[in-house]
Amino acid sequence: MAASPETPSRKDQLLEWFDARFPLIETWNYHMGKYYTPKNFNVWYAFGVLAAVVLVIQLVTGIWLTMSYKPSADEAFASVEHIMRDVHWGWLIRYMHSTGASAFFIVVYLHMFRAMLYGSYKKPRELIWIIGMLIFLVLMAEAFMGYVLPWGQMSYWGAQVIIGLFGAIPLIGEQLVVWIQGDFMISDATLNRFFALHVVALPLVLVMLVFLHIVALHHVGSNNPDGIEIKECKDKQGKPLDGIPFHPYFTVKDLTIIVVFLFFFSAVVFFAPEMGGLFLEHPNFEPANPMVTPDHIAPVWYFAPFYAILRAVTFDLLFIDAKLLGVIAMFGSIILLFLLPWLDRCPVKSIRYRGNTYKWALAAFVVAFAMLTFLGTQPSTPLYTFLAQVGMFVYFAFFLLMPWYTANEKTKPLPERVSRSWLFVPYSPRSSEGDK
Ligand code: HEM
Repeated sequence: MAASPETPSRKDQLLEWFDARFPLIETWNYHMGKYYTPKNFNVWYAFGVLAAVVLVIQLVTGIWLTMSYKPSADEAFASVEHIMRDVHWGWLIRYMHSTGASAFFIVVYLHMFRAMLYGSYKKPRELIWIIGMLIFLVLMAEAFMGYVLPWGQMSYWGAQVIIGLFGAIPLIGEQLVVWIQGDFMISDATLNRFFALHVVALPLVLVMLVFLHIVALHHVGSNNPDGIEIKECKDKQGKPLDGIPFHPYFTVKDLTIIVVFLFFFSAVVFFAPEMGGLFLEHPNFEPANPMVTPDHIAPVWYFAPFYAILRAVTFDLLFIDAKLLGVIAMFGSIILLFLLPWLDRCPVKSIRYRGNTYKWALAAFVVAFAMLTFLGTQPSTPLYTFLAQVGMFVYFAFFLLMPWYTANEKTKPLPERVSRSWLFVPYSPRSSEGDK
C-alpha cells in the first residue's frame, strides 16, 4: 500500500530512528551540506582531498599486502616476490602501494605549498598547520618503515644509515640505536617491530591526525586564494556571501579531480611503476645482504631534500662535530616548518596581495628544495656537496630571515569580496545586502 503524504516513508522513518540516537543529519550538515566553502577555490584546493584518497588507497592495498607478506628476515624478500608472481593481482596491489607512497608525498608537498602560497597557516589556522606537520612527520616514519619491509639491499642499508643517525646524539646515542633496532644490528627483531609499527600503530595515528585536521579546519573554516575571511561578510540569514555548501558543489568538483588524478596514478602503476628507479630503487631488487654495502646508498626521492641537508654539513662547529651538526640541521629544517605561522609576520595572507620580497623568497625556496631533492639522490661529489650547501643556506635563510623580511613587506590592499575563480563557472556576485 502506498504511503499517504502525511505518513513518512520507510526511509524517512529509518533516518528519524537513527537521528534520534546519533547526530547523523547534524554531522552531515556541519561537515558537508551546510559547510560554507569559499566559492573561489582553485585547483590547489584539491590536494587535501587527493591526500585523503591516497590514504585510503594505501590502507586498502596495505591490508591486502599484509595477507601474503611474511615479516621475517628469512622470508620477507621471497614473500614479496611471491606476491608479485603468484598471488592473484598481487603485482597490481603491490605497485599501487609503492606508487601510492610516492603519490602521497607529491600530493602532500603540493598541499603544503598551497598553504605557503595563500598563508593558510596564519591565524586562525595555526593548529591546522601544526596537526598537518604532525601528519607529515608520521607519514615520513610510516614510509621509512614500509621501505624496510621488502628486506632488499636498499631497505637494509637505508635503515642502517637512518637509524645510525641517532647514534650521533651525545651520551645516549649508542643505546638509543640498540633500543630502536631491538638488537645490536639491524635484524629480524628490527623488521618485526617495523612491521608492527607500519601496519598497525602508525596508520592508526595517521587516521586520527587526519580526523583532527579536518575537525580543526571545519571549526575555523577554509582559507581561500584571496586570503580573506568569508565569515566576515554574511547575508541576513548569517550565511557567508562568498560561501557555497561543500555538498554538492565541491563534492562534484572534487570527484572530477579525483578521476583525473586516478588517470595519472594508473598510468604510473601500469606503465612505469619503478619510475626509472625513483619510486622503486634498483638495489632493492636484490635481497638484503649485511656483508655487502651497495655502491651508493640513496634515500627515496621524498626524503632526499632532508638527506641532502644532512650530508651538506661537512664541517665541525665549535664543539659539535660534523655528523651531529648534520643531524641537527636535518631535524632543524623540519622544526622550522612547524614554526612557520609565527615566523611569517606579514598581515596579509595570500601571495596575490603580498609584496615582491615574499614572492622572490618563496621562489628561491622552491628552487633550493628542488635542487636538494635532486642532490639527495646523487652520490656526493665536491661540486654536489657545494651545491647542497648553497641549497641548505637558502632553505634556512628563507625561514630564519622571515620575521624580518615579512614584517616590512609592501602589500597591496585587500578586496572586500573574493575574486572570481577560473575553475568555478556559475558565479553570480551577490550584493552585500543579501542573497539574491
Ligand atoms: C594525510 C595527509 C593530509 C590529508 C588527508 C589532509 C587533508 C586536508 C583536507 C581535506 C583539507 C581541506 C581541503 C584543502 O584545503 O585542500 C586540508 C586543509 C589544510 N591542510 Fe591538510 N591534509 C594532509 C596533510 C597536511 C599537511 C602535511 C599539512 C601541512 C603541514 C597540511 C596543512 C593544511 C592546511 C594549512 C589546510 C587549510 C587550508 C586552507 O584552508 O587554505 N595538511 N587538509
